[in-house]
Amino acid sequence: MRDAAPTTIYLKDYTPFGYLVDSVHLTFDLAPNATRVTSRIKFRPNPDATDRTFFLHGEQLNLIRAAIDGVVITPDVTAEGLTAAAPDAPFVWEAVVEIDPGNNTALEGLYMSNGMYCTQCEAEGFRKITYYPDRPDVMSTFTVRINGDLPVLLSNGNPSGQGDGWAEWIDPWPKPAYLFALVAGELIAHPGQFTTKSGRDVELNLWVRPGDEGKCAFGMEALKKSMKWDEDVYGREYDLDVFNIVAVDDFNMGAMENKGLNIFNSSAVLASPETSTDMNFERIEAIIAHEYFHNWTGNRITCRDWFQLCLKEGLTVFRDAQFTSDMRSAPVKRIHDAIDLRARQFPEDNGPLSHPVRPESFQEINNFYTSTVYEKGAEVIGMLKRLVGDEAYAKALDLYFERHDGQACTIEDWLKVFEDTTGRDLSQFKRWYSQSGTPRVSVAEKWNDGTYTLTLSQRTEPTPGQEDKRSQVIPVAVGLLGPNGDEVRATEVFELTEAEQSFTFTGLAAKPVPSILRDFSAPVILEHEPTNAERAFLLAHDTDAFNRWQAGRSLAEDTLLRMITDEATPDADYLDGLQAVLRDKALDPAYRALMLGLPTQSELATALHDKGITPDPMAIWRAVETLRQATAQHVQDLLPRLHSETLVDAPYQPDAEQSGKRALGGAALALTSRLDGGLMAAEGYTRADNMTLQLTALSCLLRAGKGEAELAGFYDQWQHDRLVMDKWFALQVSMTGPDKTVETAHRLTEHTDFNWKNPNRFRALMGSLVGSHAGFHQADGAGYALLADWLIRLDPVNPQTTARMCSAFQTWKRYDSDRQELIRVQLTRISNTPDLSRDTTEMVSRILG
Ligand code: ARG
Ligand code: ZN
Repeated sequence: MRDAAPTTIYLKDYTPFGYLVDSVHLTFDLAPNATRVTSRIKFRPNPDATDRTFFLHGEQLNLIRAAIDGVVITPDVTAEGLTAAAPDAPFVWEAVVEIDPGNNTALEGLYMSNGMYCTQCEAEGFRKITYYPDRPDVMSTFTVRINGDLPVLLSNGNPSGQGDGWAEWIDPWPKPAYLFALVAGELIAHPGQFTTKSGRDVELNLWVRPGDEGKCAFGMEALKKSMKWDEDVYGREYDLDVFNIVAVDDFNMGAMENKGLNIFNSSAVLASPETSTDMNFERIEAIIAHEYFHNWTGNRITCRDWFQLCLKEGLTVFRDAQFTSDMRSAPVKRIHDAIDLRARQFPEDNGPLSHPVRPESFQEINNFYTSTVYEKGAEVIGMLKRLVGDEAYAKALDLYFERHDGQACTIEDWLKVFEDTTGRDLSQFKRWYSQSGTPRVSVAEKWNDGTYTLTLSQRTEPTPGQEDKRSQVIPVAVGLLGPNGDEVRATEVFELTEAEQSFTFTGLAAKPVPSILRDFSAPVILEHEPTNAERAFLLAHDTDAFNRWQAGRSLAEDTLLRMITDEATPDADYLDGLQAVLRDKALDPAYRALMLGLPTQSELATALHDKGITPDPMAIWRAVETLRQATAQHVQDLLPRLHSETLVDAPYQPDAEQSGKRALGGAALALTSRLDGGLMAAEGYTRADNMTLQLTALSCLLRAGKGEAELAGFYDQWQHDRLVMDKWFALQVSMTGPDKTVETAHRLTEHTDFNWKNPNRFRALMGSLVGSHAGFHQADGAGYALLADWLIRLDPVNPQTTARMCSAFQTWKRYDSDRQELIRVQLTRISNTPDLSRDTTEMVSRILG
């Protein structure tokens, strides 16, 4: 059955459900195409509700039997659920439904992946399992009995019995249905153990398919570190006897925090040195932490409704970022996060898909698991912490857990604990949750005889549905450097609350150089255009690691923009400054590697557009190539030193130290390959004994137009490994020149290993196409057409993944009218596809505007 005409749901319309649920008993009789789900649910009237309509969500269910208090009834059934007459007193609801996990390709609800049963219920997948009030504010304990002829049968909570072909689980903590999970299959456990701070023994297991046993050790250690960290830093202890993680190959997102039974995309948990890169390891550590941290921020305290998604996601992303900073390097993590936010969240927030951190309406909630809700949501919490201070933040969090444990909450509840702890009025701060768009902060300086005045102004461009913007509370961290490079004023956080405000420093001996927005203290666009001499000065002297990096970044951006618009040659300040940083052995290799990064081509396109210039993707690509080549020549003499300095002669460890060395070594290899035509990379490829080095060398070769034999060898070596094959697909598309990108992507869609129904494989190929800016935007529109063909094909199979990928077109209004027209044709073609999913319909119509 297809979705009915889309309806829009509004935050302002929230009302509580008419009934409370006291307990849920579920029995699953597993069969690939006819799984029976028997439910027995105790309801009672909700004293806080006025509307007593007994409506249960249910989609794609075959209802076999329904009864209230043992009396069989015939409810009124539609495509969205059922309505029945219910008593105005406690009652027992019973239902038997049949579902078809074997044909569930949308990967939502109960589905199958390589013969294994698994579930994904967030946000609204439980309604595809049985009839239920599928909303996060309805919480209950669950007892689950699984009957199935499979060796491993798992659900939430603690095991309460098992035998031949069955298992029973009891989850004593009331939870919303979106946290329900079930897994059944031939799985192998990688076991572990953790003793909580109050002495409770917890059995840990990482469940994987046979053959993946060798990829579990790192994930297990990451889990233990996360459990310890949450006790140490937030005082949060685990609350069940077991904690299970399962790796699944077919999964729409990264992972899911189901109570006591986290389910992970195998790419987000399985790792070994031979098959995973340093970046994979770091991401896995962060995702394991993220899902584990949800046990408190998300599960014990959940969301009242899906508009409050950032309540759990923003906070949990913020917590996992703190964890990564503690485990690895704090400045490096901060820089990574800023790069990411600018690459993914800023385009979203400044285009047709812009929405507040707490959206006010949606058609399909799955379309709002966005970088704005997650990453900007985390930035908002970072600002709050900066404004109130670390101590008050800790107190507020204690109060949050104490006051709201077991509840389904709102952003109002969250802000109230900060107001109660600090006495601060957070009504203006709250605009960060309701106002969309990225604020722009501009700077004016005045120097007058020992007194230095910084005038900061803020403005936010209109976004869809929000014409007029009001001033927000922006914490701007500022420090001042004297002419000799010494810090003459330590970092101070200014609260910019008005449209324009001045901040004065007195008693200075000479005009200082300001370092503004230190540590990226707010998710804003800083419209400060210092001279290149000043940028070079900050690159050499800034004591704030973030802004020192930022100085290099803006020098790079400035020179690239001038190369594009004025045919300028690469800027000497940039090249000399970069060389000095690279030479400085006292600097962390990871940090030096970051210094070698450039703004993405898509960011450069935005920067041009902001200056009123229509971006030409090929001109951008050529400027980046030219600058890279010039950099390689400029730092040529340093390269041998960088290679020897970054050699690791200890057994492979994916820790910050070794990863940093490999990152810098890899960046140096990329430069060397521009000078030696790939000679050193070819040697490196042969010697590589881990995936990081192997993949780096192969990328360098492909970039140099070489590596055909290595690519074929790589295929033979890794054909059996799905995660490595994703890399094989991605690499070819992203490393080929822009004139070949679309052609390569098209050729690869015909490869026998292109299992397009697997989201990881689809994203590896199509995501790399979209990520290759000049290639995707090939002037004849072939890239747009190829993507649209595949989105149309995938939509009936997997609407969620299709809809997410539509965001490739969100920046379309930046380009020339020919490209805009080519994109409009494709968007219209997608939107005119018969029976298009609600997910994709909503995305395309928002993008078209
Ligand atoms: N709550 C999960 C996480 O952040 C994400 C699951 C979202 N899934 C979805 N289909 N929308 O870790
Ligand atoms: Zn999350």
